Amino acid sequence: MPSDFSRRLRETTATIHTDVENRGFIIDLMEGRLDARAYALLLTQYEVIYDQLERRSSEFRDDPVFAPFADARLDRHARIVDDLEHLQAVLETPGLPVAEATRRYAQRLSELRTPEELLAHHYTRYLGDLSGGLAIGALMAKHYRIGPEALTMWDFADIGKTKPYKDAYRSKLDQVAASGGDEDLILAEALTAFELNGQVLNEIVDFIPSSSAA
Ligand code: HEM
Repeated sequence: MPSDFSRRLRETTATIHTDVENRGFIIDLMEGRLDARAYALLLTQYEVIYDQLERRSSEFRDDPVFAPFADARLDRHARIVDDLEHLQAVLETPGLPVAEATRRYAQRLSELRTPEELLAHHYTRYLGDLSGGLAIGALMAKHYRIGPEALTMWDFADIGKTKPYKDAYRSKLDQVAASGGDEDLILAEALTAFELNGQVLNEIVDFIPSSSAA
């Protein structure tokens, strides 16, 4: 019997979601008060995070709890590396700094032991990218004239329409208990995943030169 786990997961993470989506850096970036270098800084953190997330996802791809969610079309790491190369060429900036919070996040991903914990991070990042994330891509083009060749991280054309994809993802979440998954472990780790994302957004503010801050 499917559960209503996807609704419980969404409701359990709703408060911290609102908190994280309103962190100063992301608001300033999305409202055009920063610059392309600030976007490249965010992408530099994502490169470290998605590298680990996708390494672990391929390790767990045959696990009965995680396998229904494993989908190479979601992979972002290679796209992020390409986008950064384009941005750094335009900005003439060599490597940008990686925040301690980003290293902690990647460390957490590298130490995950269960498919449920991995699924919590998979959900937090990819369903987020397929939701508010798509707005980020559009706003970076509008505010900072970043070209599509440097915004391929937000191109999910391979999966088709996003709403049916997200609905199917949520239906699979409702099946997790039936495949032996521990729903409470996913809830707890999803809260941690949001917290780690929030810490990254807090810390990268320190790398914004005061001249480009609003
Ligand atoms: C940048 C600011 C953000 C905006 C404007 C935003 C906006 C949204 C919106 C409108 C939805 C609902 C989509 C739907 O009903 O299908 C959503 C869902 C979601 N967002 Fe965000 N978001 C932001 C940041 C984030 C961040 C930083 C994360 C995680 C790190 C995140 C993770 C998620 C997740 C996991 C969902 C799916 C919730 C569910 O249906 O279970 N969002 N977001």
